[in-house]
Amino acid sequence: MTGPLFPQGGPNMGQPAPRYEGRAKVTGEARYPSDVRLPRTAHACLHLSRIGRGTIRGFDLTAARAVHGVIDILTHETVGDAIRQTPAIYQGGYTSDSLLPLGSAEIAHWGQPIAMVVAETYEAAREAAQRIVVTTAPHPSPAVDINAPGAETRALEPMMVQAGDFDAAYAAGPIRIDARYTTPAQHQNPMELFATQCVWEGDRLTVHEPSQYVNSVKFGLAEQLGVPADNIRVISTHVGGAFGAKGFLTQRTALVAIAARRLGRPVKLVATREQGFTVSGYRAETRQHVQLAATRDGRLTALRHEGWELTSRADTVAMGGASMTTRLYACPNILGRVNTVAADRSTPGFMRAPGEVPYGFALETALDELADRLGMDPVELRRVNDTQTEPVGGLPYTSRSLMRCFDVAAATFGWSGRSPRPGSMREGDWLIGWGCASAYYPAQAGNSAARVRLTADGTAHVASAGHELGQGMTTMMAQVAAEELGVPLERVTVSLGDSDLPPAVVNGGSAGTASVASAIMIACDAIRARLGVPRDAPYAALRAAVAASGLAFVEELGEARAHGRSPESLPDMYRGRALPLGGVELPDRVQFAMGAQFVELRIHRWTREIRVRRAVGAFAAGRIINPRTSHSQLLGGMIWGIGSALHEHTDIDQRNAAYTNANLADYLVPVHADISEIQAILVSEEDRLVNQAGVKGVGEIGVVGVAAAISNAVFHATGRRLRDLPIKLEHLL
Ligand code: MOS
Repeated sequence: MTGPLFPQGGPNMGQPAPRYEGRAKVTGEARYPSDVRLPRTAHACLHLSRIGRGTIRGFDLTAARAVHGVIDILTHETVGDAIRQTPAIYQGGYTSDSLLPLGSAEIAHWGQPIAMVVAETYEAAREAAQRIVVTTAPHPSPAVDINAPGAETRALEPMMVQAGDFDAAYAAGPIRIDARYTTPAQHQNPMELFATQCVWEGDRLTVHEPSQYVNSVKFGLAEQLGVPADNIRVISTHVGGAFGAKGFLTQRTALVAIAARRLGRPVKLVATREQGFTVSGYRAETRQHVQLAATRDGRLTALRHEGWELTSRADTVAMGGASMTTRLYACPNILGRVNTVAADRSTPGFMRAPGEVPYGFALETALDELADRLGMDPVELRRVNDTQTEPVGGLPYTSRSLMRCFDVAAATFGWSGRSPRPGSMREGDWLIGWGCASAYYPAQAGNSAARVRLTADGTAHVASAGHELGQGMTTMMAQVAAEELGVPLERVTVSLGDSDLPPAVVNGGSAGTASVASAIMIACDAIRARLGVPRDAPYAALRAAVAASGLAFVEELGEARAHGRSPESLPDMYRGRALPLGGVELPDRVQFAMGAQFVELRIHRWTREIRVRRAVGAFAAGRIINPRTSHSQLLGGMIWGIGSALHEHTDIDQRNAAYTNANLADYLVPVHADISEIQAILVSEEDRLVNQAGVKGVGEIGVVGVAAAISNAVFHATGRRLRDLPIKLEHLL
């Protein structure tokens, strides 16, 4: 690591304030949902199906019940109709999949919850869960993956993108690329496990659960249990990583809630690491096909990107990255298509840059192939095809700094020293490879509210149901209020992660900061307006105005409506329906954060060992409220990108779709030895259109493009073009 540990800021950037909750976290003081201790808690353990698709014939619970301390065992036979079927998030509901928890004898996939034991201790619950005997009738040949016979392919017509005449332009193209790519299933594996604690006090339920969206848990659970939403409170003060896996209501929560109601005691469930692989969503495997045509000077004349994404039988879920990759570069003739392939698997979901990671890998690798065929520098190829309007609808980008990112990152990396011919850079027995790729992520926002209180003693308090996932939400919320009111940062306190607070967008889609910061700004404006204090007045004037008002405090609610959402949509956020919108989904414009990724790796001439030696990324994402936490997000993303390219993939048993590496020993992620020098550069950018706060978000973009930069560097080192992730040394033997 060279240079300062974090950037000090720059134009349109705030202060690099240290993490607000950092001390609580490093001292162990921070209470994560499973740390909350409630008196008389009973402990739950799930039993998951050990077959693929099939039917339960019966349970023998004798041995399980014999375990000392077992209190209750829930199966589909005992749950009855206590849980109601509700639609999944993809159909406008709240749940991450459509399977009714313990709803029937049917098993849809390996690892489906089919029983839950409740006992006096965690150990007793776990032992009893292991002793449950299930007689099943397995389906003879479940479809285990995207290539399995029996998996059903369906074209998603609404995701089709078309401009000009692709077929004719491709046929006439002087230079053509036609290539197919695959990306594997991957699991988020947040450090904190999937936990839920439920406690009833009379008819009021409190849920402690790590979540990116407490209101999806609250309102979804209300529908599942048939209780008024007002009776449910969901608390998620700290979240130990989420990455999309804690976005929506999963099956476990209703089970814990009804167990707690049956027992009249608090019940706590912490799913094991292995169980975590099927009790929430994951990144589905994809196949992709890219065709490009270009003039001899590198102008794209035709671009086609088609993707096939694995989904479950129960839910048609697609990340649909081709609707984005077809709008990033100037090109008159475009075809984008997305297909789902339904197999006997759990429902996939969102994982950090869900569409951008796989589809960006294919497109950015194809562009590198094109640059090589043209004998053109890959940075220059992106420059020739750079655009300020998206090519399908001709809509303007609110701002786009792709080439500034390339120029900054290339200069820092020393790209001009590259010898372009593959295999031409060597150090002893090591082949050196340099590669680059674009990064992009839609700038999104969702309707959000925040309450700001300014007290006569000169302190301020900010409250919103947004979430601290480790990304820096708490710090950001304090900073925005401090900046807007002129209150010293150390005099601002924050409440978040609680469904009793003003609602915020699901903290996904890199939309949290943009949405919640906008709401805080509106609330602060209202406070100033109410006190008759102008925007540029100092803190002392504001304090004096509160004192003169005779009030103990002034408090205002800010409600920020996302661009593209109707005024009628605002009340929806009070029903757990605030989802991000942006990118290519708007009628009048497109919004993206952009970046450039550069990688140097070395590959051993004989063993083919691949080592990433250094990575440089530069990113422009509108206003950066906190350069320190933003930088940390980007670094984390880049490191994940390296893992995503070289290490991570979920292994699927071809007999029953079991995940055979469902643990952190066999599911490989980068360790310190895999990561050497990494630089994430914040490129200053101002965007007054994107939202009130001018923020585009940096939660996901850091991971995008890294895999392509690595595959492009592998090509540069070896002359071998690898189009299947993860890249392994055996692919180079
Ligand atoms: Mo992110 S995958 O939208 O939590």
